[in-house]
Amino acid sequence: MQEHSDLMRGLGRTIAFVPTMGFLHEGHLSLIRKGRELGDNLIVSIFVNPAQFSPGEDFESYPRNLDRDFELAQKEGADVIFIPDGKELYPRNFQTYIELEKLPNHLCGISRPTFLKGVATVVTKLFNLVKPHIAVFGEKDYQQLIVIRRMVRDLNFEINIVGVPTLREPDGLAMSSRNSYLTPEQRINALCIYKSLKKAQELLEGGVNDAASIINAASGLIKSNEGTNIDYISICDPETLADMETINRPALMALAVKMGETRLIDNMILNPE
Ligand code: PAF
Repeated sequence: MQEHSDLMRGLGRTIAFVPTMGFLHEGHLSLIRKGRELGDNLIVSIFVNPAQFSPGEDFESYPRNLDRDFELAQKEGADVIFIPDGKELYPRNFQTYIELEKLPNHLCGISRPTFLKGVATVVTKLFNLVKPHIAVFGEKDYQQLIVIRRMVRDLNFEINIVGVPTLREPDGLAMSSRNSYLTPEQRINALCIYKSLKKAQELLEGGVNDAASIINAASGLIKSNEGTNIDYISICDPETLADMETINRPALMALAVKMGETRLIDNMILNPE
Protein backbone atom coordinates (compact mmCIF):
# COMPACT_ATOMS: atom_id res chain seq x y z
CA MET A 1 0.00 0.00 0.00
CA GLN A 2 2.75 2.42 0.98
CA GLU A 3 4.75 1.64 -2.15
CA HIS A 4 1.73 2.33 -4.35
CA SER A 5 1.12 5.65 -2.61
CA ASP A 6 4.77 6.68 -2.83
CA LEU A 7 4.64 5.94 -6.54
CA MET A 8 1.45 8.00 -7.01
CA ARG A 9 2.90 10.88 -4.99
CA GLY A 10 6.09 10.70 -7.05
CA LEU A 11 4.00 11.08 -10.21
CA GLY A 12 2.33 14.15 -8.72
CA ARG A 13 -1.06 12.47 -8.33
CA THR A 14 -3.50 13.59 -5.65
CA ILE A 15 -4.54 10.64 -3.49
CA ALA A 16 -8.10 10.65 -2.19
CA PHE A 17 -8.96 8.13 0.51
CA VAL A 18 -12.30 6.76 1.71
CA PRO A 19 -11.96 4.50 4.77
CA THR A 20 -14.94 2.19 5.36
CA MET A 21 -15.89 -0.87 7.34
CA GLY A 22 -17.53 -2.34 4.25
CA PHE A 23 -21.10 -3.55 3.67
CA LEU A 24 -21.30 -0.55 1.38
CA HIS A 25 -24.57 1.30 0.87
CA GLU A 26 -25.50 4.46 -1.05
CA GLY A 27 -24.12 6.58 1.80
CA HIS A 28 -20.65 5.06 1.34
CA LEU A 29 -20.99 5.37 -2.42
CA SER A 30 -21.58 9.11 -2.04
CA LEU A 31 -18.28 9.31 -0.11
CA ILE A 32 -16.53 7.30 -2.82
CA ARG A 33 -17.98 9.60 -5.51
CA LYS A 34 -16.73 12.63 -3.58
CA GLY A 35 -13.29 11.00 -3.37
CA ARG A 36 -13.38 10.29 -7.10
CA GLU A 37 -14.21 13.93 -7.78
CA LEU A 38 -11.40 15.25 -5.57
CA GLY A 39 -8.48 12.90 -6.26
CA ASP A 40 -6.55 11.54 -9.25
CA ASN A 41 -5.98 8.27 -7.42
CA LEU A 42 -8.84 6.93 -5.32
CA ILE A 43 -8.22 4.45 -2.53
CA VAL A 44 -11.08 2.81 -0.62
CA SER A 45 -10.28 0.70 2.44
CA ILE A 46 -12.50 -2.01 3.88
CA PHE A 47 -11.67 -3.04 7.41
CA VAL A 48 -13.95 -3.87 10.33
CA ASN A 49 -11.78 -2.40 13.06
CA PRO A 50 -11.90 -4.51 16.25
CA ALA A 51 -10.37 -1.68 18.31
CA GLN A 52 -13.49 0.49 18.00
CA PHE A 53 -15.87 -2.16 19.38
CA SER A 54 -16.21 -2.82 23.11
CA PRO A 55 -16.74 -6.37 24.38
CA GLY A 56 -20.41 -7.24 23.90
CA GLU A 57 -20.83 -4.94 20.88
CA ASP A 58 -21.42 -6.20 17.35
CA PHE A 59 -17.84 -6.75 16.05
CA GLU A 60 -18.43 -10.45 15.31
CA SER A 61 -21.85 -9.98 13.78
CA TYR A 62 -21.08 -6.72 11.91
CA PRO A 63 -22.43 -7.29 8.38
CA ARG A 64 -19.76 -8.22 5.84
CA ASN A 65 -19.91 -8.83 2.08
CA LEU A 66 -16.48 -8.35 0.55
CA ASP A 67 -17.36 -9.53 -2.96
CA ARG A 68 -20.24 -7.11 -3.28
CA ASP A 69 -18.21 -4.27 -1.71
CA PHE A 70 -15.39 -4.91 -4.15
CA GLU A 71 -17.75 -4.74 -7.11
CA LEU A 72 -19.47 -1.57 -5.89
CA ALA A 73 -16.25 0.28 -5.07
CA GLN A 74 -14.77 -0.69 -8.42
CA LYS A 75 -17.90 0.48 -10.24
CA GLU A 76 -17.61 3.87 -8.53
CA GLY A 77 -14.07 4.18 -9.85
CA ALA A 78 -11.86 3.12 -6.94
CA ASP A 79 -8.29 2.63 -8.20
CA VAL A 80 -7.26 0.58 -5.18
CA ILE A 81 -9.42 -1.35 -2.73
CA PHE A 82 -7.29 -1.84 0.34
CA ILE A 83 -8.34 -4.73 2.59
CA PRO A 84 -5.78 -4.92 5.38
CA ASP A 85 -5.41 -8.01 7.49
CA GLY A 86 -6.40 -7.67 11.16
CA LYS A 87 -3.26 -9.42 12.40
CA GLU A 88 -1.07 -7.16 10.29
CA LEU A 89 -2.74 -3.99 11.55
CA TYR A 90 -2.74 -5.16 15.16
CA PRO A 91 0.20 -7.53 15.57
CA ARG A 92 0.86 -9.28 18.87
CA ASN A 93 1.96 -6.82 21.54
CA PHE A 94 0.36 -3.83 19.78
CA GLN A 95 0.12 -1.13 22.44
CA THR A 96 0.00 2.33 20.92
CA TYR A 97 -3.34 4.14 20.76
CA ILE A 98 -4.50 7.66 19.92
CA GLU A 99 -6.79 9.25 22.48
CA LEU A 100 -8.34 12.73 22.53
CA GLU A 101 -8.80 14.50 25.83
CA LYS A 102 -12.17 16.23 25.60
CA LEU A 103 -14.27 15.44 22.54
CA PRO A 104 -14.90 11.80 23.58
CA ASN A 105 -16.50 12.96 26.86
CA HIS A 106 -19.75 13.61 25.00
CA LEU A 107 -22.36 11.84 22.85
CA CYS A 108 -21.30 8.33 21.69
CA GLY A 109 -18.04 8.56 23.65
CA ILE A 110 -19.99 8.12 26.89
CA SER A 111 -21.81 4.88 26.12
CA ARG A 112 -19.06 3.57 23.81
CA PRO A 113 -15.89 4.39 25.77
CA THR A 114 -13.44 2.67 23.40
CA PHE A 115 -15.11 3.68 20.14
CA LEU A 116 -13.35 6.99 19.42
CA LYS A 117 -9.98 5.78 20.66
CA GLY A 118 -10.30 2.82 18.27
CA VAL A 119 -11.36 5.07 15.39
CA ALA A 120 -8.57 7.62 15.97
CA THR A 121 -6.02 4.80 16.16
CA VAL A 122 -7.10 2.92 13.05
CA VAL A 123 -7.55 6.11 11.02
CA THR A 124 -4.02 7.20 11.99
CA LYS A 125 -2.66 3.82 10.93
CA LEU A 126 -4.61 3.92 7.66
CA PHE A 127 -3.38 7.47 6.98
CA ASN A 128 0.22 6.29 7.46
CA LEU A 129 -0.35 3.37 5.10
CA VAL A 130 -2.41 5.09 2.41
CA LYS A 131 -0.63 8.49 2.61
CA PRO A 132 -3.61 10.41 1.24
CA HIS A 133 -3.80 14.13 0.43
CA ILE A 134 -7.57 14.07 1.01
CA ALA A 135 -9.74 11.80 3.19
CA VAL A 136 -13.53 11.67 3.03
CA PHE A 137 -15.86 10.91 5.98
CA GLY A 138 -19.64 11.00 6.42
CA GLU A 139 -21.37 13.62 8.57
CA LYS A 140 -23.71 10.94 9.93
CA ASP A 141 -21.12 10.11 12.54
CA TYR A 142 -20.58 13.77 13.34
CA GLN A 143 -18.51 13.16 16.46
CA GLN A 144 -16.18 10.81 14.57
CA LEU A 145 -15.74 13.48 11.88
CA ILE A 146 -14.80 16.24 14.31
CA VAL A 147 -12.54 13.91 16.31
CA ILE A 148 -10.65 13.17 13.09
CA ARG A 149 -10.48 16.86 12.14
CA ARG A 150 -9.15 17.68 15.63
CA MET A 151 -6.61 14.85 15.50
CA VAL A 152 -5.38 15.91 12.05
CA ARG A 153 -4.84 19.47 13.31
CA ASP A 154 -3.30 18.42 16.63
CA LEU A 155 -0.91 15.89 15.10
CA ASN A 156 -0.07 17.94 11.98
CA PHE A 157 -1.21 15.43 9.39
CA GLU A 158 -1.00 17.05 5.94
CA ILE A 159 -4.43 15.72 4.99
CA ASN A 160 -7.51 17.64 3.94
CA ILE A 161 -10.55 16.14 5.72
CA VAL A 162 -13.76 16.41 3.71
CA GLY A 163 -17.19 15.81 5.28
CA VAL A 164 -20.12 14.58 3.17
CA PRO A 165 -23.77 15.14 4.20
CA THR A 166 -25.80 12.16 5.44
CA LEU A 167 -27.69 10.22 2.81
CA ARG A 168 -31.21 9.16 3.77
CA GLU A 169 -33.67 6.52 2.65
CA PRO A 170 -36.68 8.02 0.82
CA ASP A 171 -38.63 8.16 4.12
CA GLY A 172 -35.77 9.96 5.93
CA LEU A 173 -34.00 7.19 7.87
CA ALA A 174 -30.24 7.83 7.77
CA MET A 175 -28.46 5.16 5.73
CA SER A 176 -26.38 2.80 7.85
CA SER A 177 -24.95 -0.69 7.50
CA ARG A 178 -26.67 -1.44 10.82
CA ASN A 179 -30.12 -0.79 9.28
CA SER A 180 -29.77 -4.34 7.91
CA TYR A 181 -30.23 -5.66 11.48
CA LEU A 182 -33.74 -4.15 11.79
CA THR A 183 -36.88 -6.28 11.63
CA PRO A 184 -39.61 -4.85 9.33
CA GLU A 185 -41.42 -3.49 12.41
CA GLN A 186 -38.26 -1.92 13.86
CA ARG A 187 -37.49 -0.41 10.45
CA ILE A 188 -40.86 1.40 10.52
CA ASN A 189 -40.44 2.53 14.12
CA ALA A 190 -36.84 3.67 13.51
CA LEU A 191 -38.22 6.54 11.48
CA CYS A 192 -38.98 8.28 14.78
CA ILE A 193 -35.27 9.17 14.97
CA TYR A 194 -35.43 11.38 11.89
CA LYS A 195 -38.91 12.61 12.83
CA SER A 196 -37.60 13.79 16.19
CA LEU A 197 -34.92 15.87 14.44
CA LYS A 198 -37.51 17.38 12.10
CA LYS A 199 -39.77 18.10 15.07
CA ALA A 200 -36.87 19.90 16.79
CA GLN A 201 -36.33 22.02 13.71
CA GLU A 202 -40.06 22.84 13.53
CA LEU A 203 -40.16 23.82 17.22
CA LEU A 204 -37.15 26.08 16.74
CA GLU A 205 -38.78 27.68 13.69
CA GLY A 206 -41.91 28.18 15.80
CA GLY A 207 -39.90 30.16 18.36
CA VAL A 208 -38.99 27.50 20.96
CA ASN A 209 -35.26 27.91 21.52
CA ASP A 210 -34.87 26.26 24.89
CA ALA A 211 -32.86 23.06 24.43
CA ALA A 212 -34.50 21.18 27.34
CA SER A 213 -38.02 21.67 25.88
CA ILE A 214 -36.88 20.51 22.44
CA ILE A 215 -35.11 17.45 23.88
CA ASN A 216 -38.24 16.67 25.88
CA ALA A 217 -40.44 16.81 22.80
CA ALA A 218 -38.01 14.66 20.79
CA SER A 219 -37.76 12.16 23.61
CA GLY A 220 -41.58 11.94 23.92
CA LEU A 221 -41.90 11.32 20.19
CA ILE A 222 -39.30 8.53 20.28
CA LYS A 223 -40.71 6.88 23.39
CA SER A 224 -44.18 6.73 21.80
CA ASN A 225 -42.71 4.14 19.40
CA GLU A 226 -42.52 0.60 20.68
CA GLY A 227 -39.13 -1.04 21.16
CA THR A 228 -37.11 2.19 21.37
CA ASN A 229 -34.53 2.88 24.04
CA ILE A 230 -32.86 6.30 24.02
CA ASP A 231 -29.11 6.25 24.65
CA TYR A 232 -28.78 10.05 24.43
CA ILE A 233 -30.31 13.15 22.87
CA SER A 234 -28.04 16.16 22.95
CA ILE A 235 -28.19 19.74 21.76
CA CYS A 236 -24.66 21.02 21.83
CA ASP A 237 -21.98 23.25 20.40
CA PRO A 238 -21.00 21.86 16.98
CA GLU A 239 -17.28 22.33 17.70
CA THR A 240 -16.81 21.45 21.37
CA LEU A 241 -19.93 19.24 21.79
CA ALA A 242 -20.60 21.02 25.12
CA ASP A 243 -24.32 21.15 25.98
CA MET A 244 -26.20 24.30 24.98
CA GLU A 245 -29.16 25.58 27.01
CA THR A 246 -30.47 28.09 24.49
CA ILE A 247 -30.27 27.76 20.75
CA ASN A 248 -29.19 31.30 19.90
CA ARG A 249 -26.62 30.19 17.29
CA PRO A 250 -26.27 27.03 15.17
CA ALA A 251 -26.39 23.97 17.40
CA LEU A 252 -25.82 20.28 16.78
CA MET A 253 -28.70 18.03 17.73
CA ALA A 254 -27.38 14.47 17.93
CA LEU A 255 -28.98 11.30 19.20
CA ALA A 256 -28.48 7.58 19.57
CA VAL A 257 -31.43 5.26 19.95
CA LYS A 258 -31.51 1.51 20.38
CA MET A 259 -34.14 -0.33 18.36
CA GLY A 260 -34.04 -3.66 20.16
CA GLU A 261 -30.34 -4.56 20.05
CA THR A 262 -29.56 -2.22 17.15
CA ARG A 263 -28.10 1.15 18.06
CA LEU A 264 -28.71 3.87 15.46
CA ILE A 265 -27.36 7.43 15.39
CA ASP A 266 -28.38 10.57 13.57
CA ASN A 267 -27.88 14.32 13.81
CA MET A 268 -28.86 17.66 12.35
CA ILE A 269 -27.63 21.23 12.68
CA LEU A 270 -30.39 23.38 14.19
CA ASN A 271 -30.08 26.91 12.95
CA PRO A 272 -32.10 29.68 14.61
CA GLU A 273 -31.62 31.80 11.48
O1 PAF B 1 -17.07 5.22 9.87
C1 PAF B 1 -16.52 4.11 9.73
O2 PAF B 1 -16.91 3.31 8.88
C2 PAF B 1 -15.35 3.71 10.63
O3 PAF B 1 -15.52 4.22 11.91
C3 PAF B 1 -13.98 4.09 10.03
C4 PAF B 1 -13.82 5.60 9.86
C5 PAF B 1 -13.78 3.40 8.69
C6 PAF B 1 -12.87 3.63 10.98
O4 PAF B 1 -12.91 2.25 11.19
